[in-house]
Amino acid sequence: MTQIRALFVASEVAPFAKTGGLADVVAALPAALAAEDVACRVMVPGYPGVMAALRDAKLAHDFNELFGGAARLIAAKAGPLELLALDAPHLYARSGIYGEGGADYPDNAFRFAALAYAASAVGQGTLENWRPDVVHAHDWQAGLTPAYLHYGVAPRPVTVMTLHNIAFQGKFPKDLLAALSLPDESFAIDGVEYYGDIGYLKAGLQFCDHITTVSPSYAEEITTAEFGMGLEGLLRARAHHLSGILNGVETRVWDPASDPRIPARYDAKTLATRAKNKSALQQRLRLVEDENGFLIGVVSRLSWQKGLDLLLEALPALVEEGAQFALLGAGDKALEESFTLAAKVSSGSLGVAIGYDEDLAHLIQAGADAFAVPSRFEPCGLTQLYALRYGAVPVVSRVGGLADTIIDANEMALQAGVATGVQFSPATSDALRLALLRAKRLYDDKPLWRRLQMNGMKTDVSWKRPARRYADLYRKLLSSRAG
Ligand code: ADP
Ligand code: GLC
Repeated sequence: MTQIRALFVASEVAPFAKTGGLADVVAALPAALAAEDVACRVMVPGYPGVMAALRDAKLAHDFNELFGGAARLIAAKAGPLELLALDAPHLYARSGIYGEGGADYPDNAFRFAALAYAASAVGQGTLENWRPDVVHAHDWQAGLTPAYLHYGVAPRPVTVMTLHNIAFQGKFPKDLLAALSLPDESFAIDGVEYYGDIGYLKAGLQFCDHITTVSPSYAEEITTAEFGMGLEGLLRARAHHLSGILNGVETRVWDPASDPRIPARYDAKTLATRAKNKSALQQRLRLVEDENGFLIGVVSRLSWQKGLDLLLEALPALVEEGAQFALLGAGDKALEESFTLAAKVSSGSLGVAIGYDEDLAHLIQAGADAFAVPSRFEPCGLTQLYALRYGAVPVVSRVGGLADTIIDANEMALQAGVATGVQFSPATSDALRLALLRAKRLYDDKPLWRRLQMNGMKTDVSWKRPARRYADLYRKLLSSRAG
């Protein structure tokens, strides 16, 4: 098998620059691809957090000037990754990734065009010793990469565009076209034009050789008006070049047997030890310390997508039934305030931490009995996969990757001994409330609950299988190009 060289292009990489699951995927998939004989380099903006993490840094290319300031590509290691950091202080030397204080940076069109432009240059052979066979762009921030390559010089690498979230599309005014170094003819329905603007995600989906998204169900959903958010027509037209590959998780980071962030480590054989984490979590969020109370965890961005307003509505009735909640989240200000207020009303039963807290995220997985993900849409979702590994039984809405990763504890699945959680549909507060009550009844049957936990903990959620799928896809695309 010949080795494939792949260039990842993304706006986030964990742990150096993260707002969500994209960062986790970009950080973990390259190592798993290495086992499939794919050598990956990851191009990311040179944010301060990235620049500070670089080791063995070497100048890989000097662009002199890119969109109004000096820009260089630095090749370096960061953790296990081979990074290409785009060092362009006029664009990235700021404290935020996308913005500050709830507002996007006004020059995001240029910040992420620069990333795509630099990636397309590498794709066209700008680096002396390394030319990628495949350029793999993630989400709208990397969306112009296939477009720049399309209008650039041949030979072109194979291009793959992965959709992690179609809700973010990167739309900018059409009068930026020339300033973005896009040719006039690109402003067309089969080009970068998107409802009268320039669409970065649209451009990527239009010009890439293949589109993937992060679960098979989401790959189908986004071809419908309900989930496609305006892109369903294009996705239907490209359905033969669209597929879903489930995400995996970084099993070394998310491993309850070795996790340094939790007070008591455990595995499937020492599940009883979990009780210590439960009590630490109850203390941390000032919940009533009750070993037998049914404790439901949530770790999430607070946004419409995640359906946590549904949880707010369902809360009083569930608290009435004796359920406890541990919620960590940040995002939408109105939701932050509502949860803070609800925690005052239901103190002792609802513990809320607003903010981003990696340690608490791990403690919730290790200490909660169940883990709720009531999303309205969910391309894949990683937190329910962490929950499987940690023996927190997931209660999820039946959409996207949640539908694909959790096996509902219905009669047949229980009989067959394969259930790993609870699913509900539609994503409404009533259905969520009933699902959590169903989970509570299952919890009251201790041997049954233990089986659910064990089934989850032995589920393979590693990157092994997904990485094989990506590698197969690259090989298929390269061989059809050659043929
Ligand atoms: P999304 O990318 O849509 O936010 P995912 O489930 O794919 O959803 O990934 C979310 C990631 O972000 C997980 O690693 C989760 O643990 C983490 N996360 C979300 N909110 C917080 C928070 N407030 N504090 C710490 N980690 C968080
Ligand atoms: C997005 C999605 C989430 C997915 C993550 C990583 O942020 O919302 O479902 O798990 O990307 O692919």
